[in-house]
Amino acid sequence: MTRPPLKIALLGCGVVGTEVVRLLREQADDLTARVGVPLELAGIAVRRLDKRREGVPAELLTTDAMDLVTGDVDIVVEVIGGLEPARGLLLAAMKTGKSVVTANKALLAEDGATLFGAAREYGTDIYYEASVAGAIPLLRPLRESLVGDHVQRVMGIVNGTTNYILDQMDSSGAGFSEALGEAQALGYAEADPTADIEGFDAAAKAAILAQLAFHTRVTAAGVHREGIADVTAADIASAKAMNCVVKLLAICERVPSEGHRGGRGVSVRVHPVMIPRTHPLASVREAYNAVFVEAESAGSLMFYGAGAGGAPTASAVLGDIVAVARNRVNGTRGPAESTYADLPVLPMADTITRYHVALDVADRSGVLARVADAFAENDVSIQAVRQEGHGREAQLVIVTHRAPDGALSATIEGLRELEIVREVASVMRVEGDE
Ligand code: NDP
Ligand code: HSE
Repeated sequence: MTRPPLKIALLGCGVVGTEVVRLLREQADDLTARVGVPLELAGIAVRRLDKRREGVPAELLTTDAMDLVTGDVDIVVEVIGGLEPARGLLLAAMKTGKSVVTANKALLAEDGATLFGAAREYGTDIYYEASVAGAIPLLRPLRESLVGDHVQRVMGIVNGTTNYILDQMDSSGAGFSEALGEAQALGYAEADPTADIEGFDAAAKAAILAQLAFHTRVTAAGVHREGIADVTAADIASAKAMNCVVKLLAICERVPSEGHRGGRGVSVRVHPVMIPRTHPLASVREAYNAVFVEAESAGSLMFYGAGAGGAPTASAVLGDIVAVARNRVNGTRGPAESTYADLPVLPMADTITRYHVALDVADRSGVLARVADAFAENDVSIQAVRQEGHGREAQLVIVTHRAPDGALSATIEGLRELEIVREVASVMRVEGDE
């Protein structure tokens, strides 16, 4: 007896949705063979019916998304984005027994608890591979392949737009505004690039990664976030002088108490970082993404590829569609949310970091000693000092050893109060081996 097709409701038909439609149609035979039953696109919810959409069957379009998700479908794929109506639609879908697939990092990071709670309550699947790092298989490895290991750290470039801008500033000496203009002209950055530039997009992805890696609920509000709008050409030049490059990194790590493997908490942060040019993340150019995972037994793993774009992101969505479809065919479910470890999410002040500090100072005797005192007063150890003279002024560049971020911030405040410090020209955290 042939089994009936599984019916799919697609919510959203923009950059990602259009490619999901194309792949579902072009690969229909292979998908049927892989799932065991045909996948049938039953309807596509959009905002505007009159918009031109190449390759999208007009008869499937509707503006009544709620009617579509609560109707006769098996799988709901959400690629609208944002909090509402996406949240209400996904909840209604799960309440009526549908499996759901979403690429919506903003919603997952803001209110994942409600979505995962609904999946548990109604016994449905929720898959979201495309929400972090586009095409790169990253969430399933964390959720399934590494579930028997003890992940210590996840660190990477998860926003293509900002990586493109920083890469341009590094390779061509462009200023921030000029590089942003190029990113917009090439279609990497949105007309309103705030979510990328200010780090909101990367922070949402960091929350999702940390939750999976540490079995602990992490929301966007728990992520320390700094964007790249204040990164100057002088910062880039300073990094070059140290044979470093500036990247916007998402860093999720355990902060263990002394000698205690279980950990005192987790630190989740997004901010610009100087990393050595020899570090594998330094060679990630243009709009590519790359993520390092360090696990106790597996060691270091690196995931690299296209983190955005219609077709790459649709590839991850299709992977999830096949996974939830197979689960339905087999009468099983994928892994549920896992937050049993419930580790505290620590404030940035408790995170252990290194700093690169550039100070414009008067070039006279005793200056270096007073600057060094400001570090010592906060128990921050200096690793290296470099001085460049500019007549009667000098620039001091100081790189610290690892210390609590709170102590480093207090040091900077202390330096700002010194009469011999004309200006704190640049402050940036440093990652990579000391
Ligand atoms: P787009 O803005 O290109 O598309 C959004 C789609 O949603 C449009 O088709 C729009 O309809 C539709 N839509 C908006 N509001 C409603 C509504 N109220 N009811 C029904 N449909 C609605 O977004 P993307 O395709 O770029 O992104 C979709 C999701 O994928 C987001 O969550 C995003 O974060 C995520 N993502 C995107 C990546 C990318 O590279 N673009 C990469 C990874 C994840 P209409 O066409 O009529 O305007
Ligand atoms: N705006 C995001 C980026 C899209 O630049 O990486 C992918 O989530």
